[in-house]
Amino acid sequence: MRSFLGRDIVSLKNFEREDFLRVFEICEQLAPFARNRENTDLLSKKTLVTAFYQPSTRTRLSTEAAMLRLGGAVTGFSDAKMTRAGDFYQESIRDTVGMLEFYGDVIAMRHYQKGAPAEAAHWATVPILNCGDGWGEHPTQGISDLYTVWKERGTLDGLKFILDGDMRMRTMHSMSVAMCEFDIEAIYVHPPDMALPEDIVEYINDHGLRYRTVEHIEEAIAEADMIYMEPVVQPDYTKSRDERSGAVGTTPDNYKVTAELMRKARSNCMVFHSLPRMDELETKVDLTRHAWYWTEAFNAVVTKMALLALVLGAAE
Ligand code: CP
Repeated sequence: MRSFLGRDIVSLKNFEREDFLRVFEICEQLAPFARNRENTDLLSKKTLVTAFYQPSTRTRLSTEAAMLRLGGAVTGFSDAKMTRAGDFYQESIRDTVGMLEFYGDVIAMRHYQKGAPAEAAHWATVPILNCGDGWGEHPTQGISDLYTVWKERGTLDGLKFILDGDMRMRTMHSMSVAMCEFDIEAIYVHPPDMALPEDIVEYINDHGLRYRTVEHIEEAIAEADMIYMEPVVQPDYTKSRDERSGAVGTTPDNYKVTAELMRKARSNCMVFHSLPRMDELETKVDLTRHAWYWTEAFNAVVTKMALLALVLGAAE
C-alpha cells in the first residue's frame, strides 16, 4: 500500500483495496468526534484551502466541517466568479494553485472541467482532493459511500449494487472503478443516451468487474443489496453554473425509486443518493428503512476527516 502522506486524491483508478480499508480504519477512529459533535486538535497546525469552481452544498461544507472537527483552519472560495479565474483574466489552474499552495497545506477542488484537479495536482506541492470534476470523477463521494456500506454490512464482498440514473455522472465513474477492487456485482440501469463513457467501460472490463445492464429497475430490484442513484434530469456538469430556465423534464419510471418499488426489495437493501434529488427519489422513501442518504451525508464528514488526517500525516 502506498503511503497517504502528501498524496493527491484525484481518482479512484489508483486506489487499491487496501487503501479503502485503511481509510475505513481511520474513519472508525475519528467518527466519534463527528458523532459527539466535538472538535479535536489533530490538525490544529494545518489549513485547508477550498477552491470550488462549481456550486456545491454537501461536498464543500462537509470538507470544511471535517477540517474544523480536526481543529484545522479553512480558507478558500466557493464562487470562482469573484476570483481572477472567473473574470477577464481567466487565470489558469497552474497560476491559481501556484498561489493557493502558499495559503494552506491541502487544497480541495471542485471544477467543471474533467481533469482540472489532476492538473492542479501536477503543479501543486500540497495534496489535492478532487471534490468532483465535470463528467470526470467524484472520489471522496465514492470512498464515503463505500465506507457507509462497509460499516453497515461488515464487508463489500459478495454484494450486488444497482447503479441507477445518468451514467455520465462523476459519482458513477468513481463507484464503477472502486467496485473493481471488491467482489461486487453491478447492475446498471440508465437512459440510452446516458451510458458510461468508453474509458470507464474499458477500465471495468480490464479489471474484471461482473456487470450487466437492464432497462427497468424493477428487473433487478429484488436482487440488490444497494441502489446507487443519480438524477437523469440534471444540469450540465461541464458548465461552471447551469441555471434552471423554465420547466424541467420528469424521470421515466424505469429509473425512479419509490416506496412502492422498495416493497419489492430485500428488507436490508440500502438506497444511496449523493443528492440533490429531483423527482427520481420519492420523499416517501425517506420514511423507510431503505433511506441511507442522510447517513451517507454524515459519513461524508467522517471520511473527509480520515482523508485529511491521512494526507497531512496525522494518521500514519
Ligand atoms: N454530493 C454532492 O456532490 O453534493 P454537492 O453537489 O452539494 O456537493
